[in-house]
Amino acid sequence: MWKYGNSMIKGILDSKNVSAEDIIASAKTDKTREKIQKELKIAVAAHNWEVVDFADVVFLAVKPQYYEEVIAEIKGDIRENQIIVTIAPGKTLAWLAEKMGANVKIIRTMPNTPAMVKEGMMGMCKNDLVTDEELQQVKTICESFGKAEVVPESLIDVVVGVSGSSPAYVFMFIEAMADAAVADGMPRAQAYKFAAQSVLGSAKMVLETGKHPGELKDMVCSPGGTTIEAVRILEEKGMRSAVIEASKACVKKGREM
Ligand SMILES: NC(=O)c1ccc[n+]([C@@H]2O[C@H](COP(=O)([O-])OP(=O)(O)OC[C@H]3O[C@@H](n4cnc5c(N)ncnc54)[C@H](OP(=O)(O)O)[C@@H]3O)[C@@H](O)[C@H]2O)c1
Repeated sequence: MWKYGNSMIKGILDSKNVSAEDIIASAKTDKTREKIQKELKIAVAAHNWEVVDFADVVFLAVKPQYYEEVIAEIKGDIRENQIIVTIAPGKTLAWLAEKMGANVKIIRTMPNTPAMVKEGMMGMCKNDLVTDEELQQVKTICESFGKAEVVPESLIDVVVGVSGSSPAYVFMFIEAMADAAVADGMPRAQAYKFAAQSVLGSAKMVLETGKHPGELKDMVCSPGGTTIEAVRILEEKGMRSAVIEASKACVKKGREM
C-alpha cells in the first residue's frame, strides 16, 4: 500500500534537502518494493535492519498495530546518535522508549494526508535525548512535505483531531457543498472544483490575513443577505457543535490507542 511513506519520500526528494542515494526504504512485499524502486528510484530493503544499518534518521511508516513487531525487529540494531521518528497515533514517547530502550533518541510526530500535495501539517515532540538541533534537522526534512510545528507531547493527541484526521471532515464538507450544488443543477465535477477552491481560499485567508475566522465570516455576511441565511441554518443544525464533538471523540480515541 505504502501511502504515507510514499508522500514523505516524494516531498523529501523534491525539496533536494536529501538526495536519492541517501534514502532507503523497506516494505513487506515484493510488489511494494518494486513500486518504490520504480516510482521513487531509491534503494529498497527486504529487511528493516538494513534500513537501520544505513540511515541516520529512521521513519517508522507502518500502521500502529505493526509498531511492536517492527520495533522488536530493529531494536538490537539501533545505534547511539541515530534518530527514530514515529508517525503513529497513540504510541507515546514512554511506550516507545519501553519497547526500543531508554537510550534511544525518539521524535514522535503526527502528520496528515495533505502531505501528498506538500500541504501537510505535522505536530512533533521529542524525548530528552534528542537535542534541539537534531529536532530542527528532522523538522526541516518534514517541512519538505508541508508545515511542521513542535508541540508538547500532551498536545499530540489534540493534533490528531485538529489536523491528523480533520482532512476527512473537510472532504465531507466539500462533498456536501458539492452535493447541494449538484442538487441545484451544477455538473458534479464543476461543483467539486467550486467547493474545494472555496475551502482552499478560505483557509489561505485565515493563514495569511491573521484575522479571526469569526471576523472573516462576518465580512462575508451582508445584512439580510444570502450568506447569513446559510449561517443561520448551519447554526440551527448544530454544525459547530457537531465538529467540536467529532474532533473530541477523535482525540479520545487516539488517547485510547
Ligand atoms: N495514510 C495517511 O494519510 C496517514 C496520515 C497520518 C498518519 N499516518 C500514519 O502513517 C503510518 C503508515 O500509514 P499508511 O496509511 O501509509 O500505511 P500503509 O499504506 O498500510 O503502508 C504501510 C507500509 O508499511 C509496510 N509494512 C508493513 N509491515 C511492515 C514490516 N513489518 N516491515 C516493513 N514494512 C512493513 C507495508 O508494506 P507492504 O505494502 O509491502 O505490505 C506498507 O508499504 C501509520 O502509522 C499511520 O497512522 C498515515
